Amino acid sequence: MLKVKPVSAERLPELLRRMPKAELHIHIEGSLEPELMFALAQRNGMATAYPDVESLRRAYVFDDLQSFLDIYHAGTLVLRTEQDFYDMTRAYLVRAASDNVLHAEIFFDTQTHTGHGLSTEVVINGLHRACVDAKSELGISASLILCFLRHLSEQEAFEALEQALPLHDKLVGVGLASSEKGHPPEKFARVFARARELGFRLVAHAGEEGQPAYIWSALDVLKVERIDHGVQAVKDPLLMARLAKERIPLTVCPLSNLKLRVFPALAEHNLKHLLEAGIVATVNSDDPAYFGGYINQNFTQTFAALGLTAQHAYKLAHNSFEASFIDEKRKRQYIERLNASFETFN
Ligand code: ADE
Ligand code: ZN
Repeated sequence: MLKVKPVSAERLPELLRRMPKAELHIHIEGSLEPELMFALAQRNGMATAYPDVESLRRAYVFDDLQSFLDIYHAGTLVLRTEQDFYDMTRAYLVRAASDNVLHAEIFFDTQTHTGHGLSTEVVINGLHRACVDAKSELGISASLILCFLRHLSEQEAFEALEQALPLHDKLVGVGLASSEKGHPPEKFARVFARARELGFRLVAHAGEEGQPAYIWSALDVLKVERIDHGVQAVKDPLLMARLAKERIPLTVCPLSNLKLRVFPALAEHNLKHLLEAGIVATVNSDDPAYFGGYINQNFTQTFAALGLTAQHAYKLAHNSFEASFIDEKRKRQYIERLNASFETFN
């Protein structure tokens, strides 16, 4: 691990922006900016619920996860063609590359879109083609994680998995998203067991709003390798010790937690506590078009609110590569670039 030189509070945002990083928790549908949403609605000859971009943005005030998911779902209605999925993903990858994201692991779901009459192929092919083009044109690598919607049934998750299987080589893993409370990981034990047999990497949202027991069961029943959010783990010292000992990464999303009122203020976020407890935490944007910031804004605002340092920045970026699903050789290459960026920063 690199010995990090101190950086002044004034220079820290620049360090955070320039530092190479991986983003491991981004729902691509949550990157759909109002401007693109209106453009897609027009291209597809659809009416929109709000007259203009400004009034739509003004509606982005949430009480909790469910109040967000309702608006988020309405936004996905404009996605109708493979090109729509391509354009949305391209826009995110351009933005991420400008934030010095070297690698992104992108969540998406098919159940929302098949529920709107689209095929699984339209969704996955559009997303995948954008990832392939971004690698050659922007130099950013990206892989795809299909999330099951936990408010729907086990049977529906099995159907989503089945429909995605012909496109298996375009996916790296499966995850679990949507309304957490009342939908424990155990509901999807058999689907995750099947996905595991099929060779998918496994992640799940747990402990965003839900109790630490959901994190335990995501680990022990679903056998996931990373926990998405996981911030409620601090309520359970035994769980904290396990996460640290087994180096189970948490993909933390500070601005999301603020906007969905998981914490009353960014200054009360527990990211610093997680890091100091030895947990492999990372910083991510979750649904940046809705929560007021892409990954670099998550870094700069959280660092300012919590008084985090260059040493924390290095740790978080290092964790992001360590926790990713890329192979060991590429991990080493990315970490070398990270080290070089810290060594040459002045
Ligand atoms: N889907 C999109 N964003 C989500 C979040 N923060 N939690 C659960 N499901 C989501
Ligand atoms: Zn999420």
